[in-house]
Amino acid sequence: MSFKNLFRKKSANVVLQEGSDLEHSGLSKVLTVRDLTFFGIAAIIGGGTFSAIGNACFSGGPAVILLYVICAIACGFTAMCYAEFAARVPVSGSAYTYAYVSFGELFAWIIGWALLMEYSIGNIYIAFSWSGYFTNLLDGFGLHLPEWLTINYTAAHRAFTENAAGEGMLAWTNAPQIGGLHIIFDLPAVMINIMITALVYVGTKESRNFSNLMVMIKLAVVVLVIIVGAFYIDIENWTPFMPNGFGGVMAGVSAVFFAYIGFDAVSTLAEEAKNPQRDLPRGMIYSLVVCTAVYIILALVLTGMVSYTLLGVSDPLAEIFALKGVKWMLFIVSIAAVVAMTSVMLVFQMGQPRIWMTMSRDGLLPKRFSKIHPKYKTPGFATIITGLVVGLPMFFTDENFILDFTSIGTLFAFVLVCGGVLLLPSQSAEEKTATEATKGKFRLPYINAKFSFPLIIITTFSFLIFKYPAFFVDAFMFTSDNFGGKLPMIGFFIVCIVMTVLSFLKNLSLIPVLGLVSCCYLLTGMAASNWIWFSIWLAVGLVVYFLYSRNHSKLATK
Ligand code: ALA
Repeated sequence: MSFKNLFRKKSANVVLQEGSDLEHSGLSKVLTVRDLTFFGIAAIIGGGTFSAIGNACFSGGPAVILLYVICAIACGFTAMCYAEFAARVPVSGSAYTYAYVSFGELFAWIIGWALLMEYSIGNIYIAFSWSGYFTNLLDGFGLHLPEWLTINYTAAHRAFTENAAGEGMLAWTNAPQIGGLHIIFDLPAVMINIMITALVYVGTKESRNFSNLMVMIKLAVVVLVIIVGAFYIDIENWTPFMPNGFGGVMAGVSAVFFAYIGFDAVSTLAEEAKNPQRDLPRGMIYSLVVCTAVYIILALVLTGMVSYTLLGVSDPLAEIFALKGVKWMLFIVSIAAVVAMTSVMLVFQMGQPRIWMTMSRDGLLPKRFSKIHPKYKTPGFATIITGLVVGLPMFFTDENFILDFTSIGTLFAFVLVCGGVLLLPSQSAEEKTATEATKGKFRLPYINAKFSFPLIIITTFSFLIFKYPAFFVDAFMFTSDNFGGKLPMIGFFIVCIVMTVLSFLKNLSLIPVLGLVSCCYLLTGMAASNWIWFSIWLAVGLVVYFLYSRNHSKLATK
């Protein structure tokens, strides 16, 4: 096995050719720019908005809006890189396909494997959160499900071993047993997964109509929360602006980043878009802009209505109205949360089978994964497997473990996409002429990073050294206790130095460089234990690759 062989690449032209050959392969080309933007919003506004925003406000205070801006900038740069790729390689597969073109097969496989965490594992978290809000709603109607049917086994078992009073303990105590095994599982989470899987199986058009409706509802309710909440703002609550310093703001990074995950899901719908080269980039960027505005205003309203110290709850949007005694809003917010999370699940659950479908066409997964259902025109087998991958772990895992895992997988994919754009060949004259034929096609603006990036790095680091010298001392002095936290930070400094040198030597394009560096920075916020699990996950993926995919790859038979 030669080294070169390990990084064999698909050419962008081949990918495009396959895309056009498959144009009439069965997937319906029905999605417009409006649909794609709505898909983006559907995937973005969910658990992060209705739940995680609370803890982010709690740790950062009103200054959490800075973190929303930082994450929006990182995601914005990445979205532009996705857009550049989507415009050049408009087929399903998202970052996986892009990596295949720029980095080669091994990296493509790794990224496809990592994306499974964003789409499938992310959906486990959202299903659990969905269940929490749904159960609250049922309670509001006087329907109470027993605790052993509304919590996952792991959480209940932990509550029992830690002797923690509450829902988990109640579930453990009251659960029926079979042969000593406590029967505890999250029934609403399991049910919503089955329903979403069925909907995605039945068809894109039906899913799209459902998704558009849900986006309308959740946007309307978030706007309502903002308008009603604005009447209760007391500007005293915005002081102090940054109660826990910048460290407190950055502590919310995973929660805030999670709120932005999803815009990239738009790129998995390339083959179902009417004009993918023009509309995919627009859909991604429009949805990101809308959500950023919503998040900043929402965070200001939340921290303006009550003291940030009261926001460290899992249902902050309901909590603020409960604290202000606005009962009618509680009900509306709960319904909106259920709707919002349903639409996020729907988009992710549509994205996963389409990535597998593309991998299967390349020979990296068995052929059944790319089989299109003759009647429903969807990748039926891959859709069912996705439902199982989301559904089965629900019985033996919990939401906390899964949250950071999702963020690591996603950031990892983002870093590779930004890096991939840097490796793309510049467009030839021939391709440029073809480009002109595709009216409105997105082109990533080229800004030479030769001097601009070193300048940004030197200015930022000088500012930090001058203003926060402790930041650097802390980052470099690690002991075995904080080893896990510091190691990624040192890795980040190395990335900055390498990118500075490369920018200078190779006249790199500034936007992907900034995207890569900002996503690497966000990665430093992930806990060491999650890095370990992520590494194990990648190792398993590599075993599968070398045992099956490598030999079955279409590139292997050429
Ligand atoms: N951004 C998505 C959410 O917040 C993942 O649910």
